Amino acid sequence: MSRLIVISNRVQAPQPGTGGGAQGGLAVALNAALAEEDGIWFGWSGDTSDNRELRFQTYGGVTSAVMDLSEQDVEEYYDGYANRTLWPLFHYRLDLTEFERDFQGGYERVNRVFGERIGPHIEPDDLVWVHDYHMIPLGWVLRQQGITNRIGFFLHIPWPPRRLLTALPDHRRLVEALFAYDVVGFQNEEWLDSFFNYVKEEMDGTVDGNNVTVGGRTICAISCPIGIEAKDFIAGAAGPVARAAQLNQLESAVGRSLIVGVDRLDYSKGLPERFAGYERFLQNHPDRRALVYLLQIAPPSRTAVQTYRDIRNNLEQMSGRINGAYADTDWVPIRYVNKGYPREVLAGIYRAARIGLVTPLRDGMNLVAKEYVAAQDPRDPGVLILSRFAGAAQQLSVGALMINPYSAEDIADGIDKALRMPRAERIDRWQAMIENVVEEDVIWWRKRFIDALSAETQ
Ligand code: F6P
Repeated sequence: MSRLIVISNRVQAPQPGTGGGAQGGLAVALNAALAEEDGIWFGWSGDTSDNRELRFQTYGGVTSAVMDLSEQDVEEYYDGYANRTLWPLFHYRLDLTEFERDFQGGYERVNRVFGERIGPHIEPDDLVWVHDYHMIPLGWVLRQQGITNRIGFFLHIPWPPRRLLTALPDHRRLVEALFAYDVVGFQNEEWLDSFFNYVKEEMDGTVDGNNVTVGGRTICAISCPIGIEAKDFIAGAAGPVARAAQLNQLESAVGRSLIVGVDRLDYSKGLPERFAGYERFLQNHPDRRALVYLLQIAPPSRTAVQTYRDIRNNLEQMSGRINGAYADTDWVPIRYVNKGYPREVLAGIYRAARIGLVTPLRDGMNLVAKEYVAAQDPRDPGVLILSRFAGAAQQLSVGALMINPYSAEDIADGIDKALRMPRAERIDRWQAMIENVVEEDVIWWRKRFIDALSAETQ
């Protein structure tokens, strides 16, 4: 059996002192494969120094190897090209996208160093799986090292439409790098179509089923939506930690309906628009104001980047203003919390919530939507209100209340409808969604990608 080599910016292998791991679904799924197949997870240590040596560690059955980056590397590669150029552009925010040659230079330099350090550790039968927008050129660097193994790439975020992508100086260079891979995976058909369109229009390429050919080189491009560790999450949501968190919420709700949002503090998540939609509901329904409250959990993210500081300031002002305008002596409309919680606690909060409000302006997938569904009590499930612009919409529109996140009226109407929805309809909708969440879970995703990567060249 071949080993699996995973390469990503953030390494989520189990760490000593954290009880053996238990992070998100992605980490669990990849770690399980790495432990079974004796693989290695490579990436950034998260630390800065001028030491460019890989540090290996085996813990919880998983071997990981991480490298430090210099301060300049972090500024140009992670804060710069990854999070000030590619992230906003790929999330359709051309207005927030910054173009600096130094960022691109740093991005390519860091990818080169990673490739040069990792290359010698790859053995002939290894399957290599590179993750996300931080690492697009890595496959190309590995090919320069003479690595002829099967190498796959999975993009966790959207792939933008051609006309947006062409705003990136050197866009073609970035896309050409994808042709070093054998398999390229996207979260859904929409992103895959945008990729096909770019290849046809900008590169004179051809698309035949999933085979994409440019200049004599054919790769396989697939839609492969990521899932959650569904069975585990469902069990966790009925366990003691979740139960305590659920009861805690229900007690503090004193008969009110909880609406919950959980997002990294990121402008792609549509949080100001969500607050505005919720405020519109409060305005439209003065009689029902005090019967609801919104709990928004938003742990800060990428705090070195100005646009992330701006969104944080904006949300502080909005939540302060809305609370000031509508609160009463025994009620505040928004509880806005800037910290993260363990998965089981979140599961309990989701289960206590009558509404899961997932309204990104654009999102590669959005696993909170799937976790919210998985956490519900089958006899009395809540309602998922979901943005049509989340990658998850393709799988969950069967049961979610679909809204346009730019429209405060749409969000307000969605909240109103969800609060009035009879139990029988809530159960029907939930059943349609849970089937998909369980079926297309994170193990299904991993297998689908690895199967495509292991397949002989088509
Ligand atoms: O899913 C997109 C993603 O950027 C992942 O690659 C990343 O691990 C996660 O969001 C959190 O972002 P960051 O690693 O920048 O904190």
